[in-house]
Amino acid sequence: MTVQKATNIKWHHGKITKDDRIKLLRQKGVTIWLTGLSGSGKSTIAVEIEHALIENKHQAYILDGDNIRHGLNKNLGFSPEDRTENIRRIGEVAKLFTDANIITITAFISPYRQDRDNVRKLLKDGEFVEVYIKCPIDVCEQRDTKGLYKKARAGEVKEFTGISAPYEEPLNPELTIDTSTMTVDESTRAIVQYLEQKGYVKF
Ligand code: ADX
Repeated sequence: MTVQKATNIKWHHGKITKDDRIKLLRQKGVTIWLTGLSGSGKSTIAVEIEHALIENKHQAYILDGDNIRHGLNKNLGFSPEDRTENIRRIGEVAKLFTDANIITITAFISPYRQDRDNVRKLLKDGEFVEVYIKCPIDVCEQRDTKGLYKKARAGEVKEFTGISAPYEEPLNPELTIDTSTMTVDESTRAIVQYLEQKGYVKF
């Protein structure tokens, strides 16, 4: 738990309701939380979901681990504590985006179950959709799109998820996408279809 440090602060409410925002954008804001190993396909799928939604005149935005670590979270590394803080901050950002009624797609390894569950708790019911981007580690390692598995095996990259740091699989994700058997297109369609079926967007 992060302690509340500031005192003498008061919450200010606006005039705009959730319903106003839903009418304006013709969609219901939600956080699509993609979790999985490095190289499992999170970022690739996030890009395709965002594209499919925007093509269909829906407002969507990606929060991606590698990108956010260049800015907001540039002071965080890969220790368990830093990863927890990484996910805590992103959870808060995702909450703001979701409150603004955006279809928010996050692509973070987010290896700890507790950290992901904390984000779920932070958001309202139905506003957090956990998607496990499942892929066997040997397939991720074979892909090695960033060359990091090779470096991790050589000991040049420390605390690497799946090699020298843990990954805790989701127990009850809303969706599981196995990218070792599904194409990028099939994976994207499954997620977009879920959004449509649950009434977040309309095509
Ligand atoms: S998380 O574990 O805190 O959720 P995040 O998704 O932000 O991780 O960042 C993961 C990305 O950072 C990976 O895709 C990879 O490119 C890079 N990276 C660099 N070092 C590591 C490491 N030790 N473990 C995992 N990913 C790393």
